[in-house]
Amino acid sequence: MDDEETRAPRAEAGLVVVANRLPVSLERDATGRPRWQHSPGGLVNALEPFLRGRRGVWVGWPGTTARDLPPFPEDGLRLHPVRLSADDVSGFYEGFSNGTLWPLYHDVIVPPEYHRSWWEAYVRVNRTFAEAASEASGPGATVWVQDYQLQLVPAMLRELRPDLRIGFFLHIPFPPVELFMQLPWRTEIVRGLLGADLIGFHRPGGAQNFRWLAHRLTGSSTEPRPAPGARPGDVHLGDRSVRIGAFPISIDAAELDRLARRPDVQRRARQIREELGNPEKIILGVDRLDYTKGIDVRLRAVHEMLGEGRIRPDRVAFVQIAIPSRERVEHYVRLREDVERTVGRVNGEFSRVGRPVVHYLHTSVSREELAAFYSAADVMLVTPLRDGMNLVCKEYIACRYREDGALVLSEFAGAAAELSGAYLVNPHDLQGVKNALAEALDLSPDEARHRMSRLRRQVLTHDVEFWARSFLTALSDGRPGPSPSPAADGSSPLAYDTEWALT
Ligand code: ADP
Ligand code: F6P
Repeated sequence: MDDEETRAPRAEAGLVVVANRLPVSLERDATGRPRWQHSPGGLVNALEPFLRGRRGVWVGWPGTTARDLPPFPEDGLRLHPVRLSADDVSGFYEGFSNGTLWPLYHDVIVPPEYHRSWWEAYVRVNRTFAEAASEASGPGATVWVQDYQLQLVPAMLRELRPDLRIGFFLHIPFPPVELFMQLPWRTEIVRGLLGADLIGFHRPGGAQNFRWLAHRLTGSSTEPRPAPGARPGDVHLGDRSVRIGAFPISIDAAELDRLARRPDVQRRARQIREELGNPEKIILGVDRLDYTKGIDVRLRAVHEMLGEGRIRPDRVAFVQIAIPSRERVEHYVRLREDVERTVGRVNGEFSRVGRPVVHYLHTSVSREELAAFYSAADVMLVTPLRDGMNLVCKEYIACRYREDGALVLSEFAGAAAELSGAYLVNPHDLQGVKNALAEALDLSPDEARHRMSRLRRQVLTHDVEFWARSFLTALSDGRPGPSPSPAADGSSPLAYDTEWALT
């Protein structure tokens, strides 16, 4: 970012995305110099390609507590940084967002902690985001609030700016009602969300749970109303109706398909296979290093199969790429130690000198490198215990333009509902995971083509553009949408059928 860019005028936009993180984060390199890095996670990878070039504003945290940053343009986007203090990061981000909500919404895989000081930080920071969003939004703008870190923003923003059209999308699972009811501030969260005009979830089950809770906790009604514009499934609160729907998120599938076909990426894929010692089969895992992702499940499956002789260490290589994540949160520290201990143990038992059987990379890699790994992998192993959607499995499919390769996918990933051509597994059933992995490793080329062509049809036709347009069309309720640019194929946003998504 140069000086001219930092002096960019304050944005007053028609389409404003509000997310905890900006798509780039200010980090320090090895010499301590600050540099902008691509932010981790599925939310950024999904939303960024859609928003670029639409002259939208992205309001979010730039990943540093060090200083105030003015709004600045970045490759077709206008970024509006929100400053958080060290106390905010500890109470709001590491505390309430990732120590309370994240485990609670992911089936209490680890116990959520409930602390009043974390809640106070969450309220305070949500207000800061609401104020920043209000400042960045032009009259009558559409504001699209993202994810569990900002569930109070819709109501706070509505108070500040009743002229705005406000949407909210939850990128993680919405929990079963019995779990949500544990939350001491459950009513405040539901009221916060109900400030939106449209609330989107990945799955219809999440939408149903939310409707039930809204009725139970706020007395709102879900009975159909004869009011103009009201639809079945809306939640009615006073004189307002809030639409609730399921919108399964996706990826920029065409971009990854193109990337995977590039000769340099294919060359790199061949080189990866050579560097691994030309194994007959490569198994791949790619995740943020998060306890929800079931990295331990796949390591245990591979370990047992090696011990039983179902996988030969001289014929198979397992590559696990883990992007560092939330490294100051206790459960993440422990997870990293556990994963690294298990990798060491499996390699200690089954590797030969110069030929480890498990290749573990604790790093972020470029899109090109990721596409090369997806292209090299014969089997993609995606075994989360719970995941809102999981984009990694869709990315693998988008890269398999030759219609080969196999996907082993947890039933507990939102993506499982769409990807019936995968080997679906219950990650709690280790024997089932091992059997599916064995089948995927032995797959015939014909069966692989049959499965992968089905998977590709789904992913290439239901991409992130489809997701975002479906959501924004539902949010605009038939009025002209907020996006100034037409679809690449010249069709209008309203040409998309959104009813499939509204439950
Ligand atoms: P989450 O949003 O929980 O992180 P997703 O599977 O939905 O999970 O999205 C993860 C995103 O992060 C994907 O777009 C994937 O390509 C990216 N990613 C995961 N691991 C790495 C890595 N080691 N290097 C670069 N990108 C990664
Ligand atoms: O949707 C999951 C999510 O929490 C996103 O909100 C976030 O962008 C991503 O994972 C990465 O997490 P974090 O921002 O905590 O590094």
